[in-house]
Amino acid sequence: MTVRPNRYSVVAITLHWLIAIAILSMIPMGWWMSDAINDPSQQALAYRVFQIHKSVGFLILALTVLRVLWRLTHPVPALPLEMKGWEQFAARATHVAFYALMIAMPLTGW
Ligand code: HEM
Repeated sequence: MTVRPNRYSVVAITLHWLIAIAILSMIPMGWWMSDAINDPSQQALAYRVFQIHKSVGFLILALTVLRVLWRLTHPVPALPLEMKGWEQFAARATHVAFYALMIAMPLTGW
């Protein structure tokens, strides 16, 4: 039987926050650069931000692959017992959807 830990490991928590901060930075960057690239006074800076956006996107993809490999090879803490069945289902479905999006977003951006 697999022994479930009480909390996520340092590796999982570090990957979680690195990916979260990177994704949150991508949204304002993407919005700003898409407009700024058409403004001659901001074009040079926007071009550089495009390159940063692409690099951070690939970094997110690489970190997510590591995260998925970690998830497939390590047991995670159990959900609280007092959660109802539908709540446990919603939590698991949300996690799966996040993993899928964290792979799909960099790939579609690329
Ligand atoms: C988690 C990953 C990513 C997120 C959250 C993200 C987010 C965004 C957002 C919010 C925009 C602005 C869209 C708009 O205003 O219409 C954008 C634009 C853009 N992104 Fe990303 N992006 C990601 C990955 C990537 C990657 C990996 C690349 C390329 C290697 C990329 C290339 C671009 C380009 C070229 C645009 C400008 C599109 C245009 O002006 O039509 N993105 N991104």
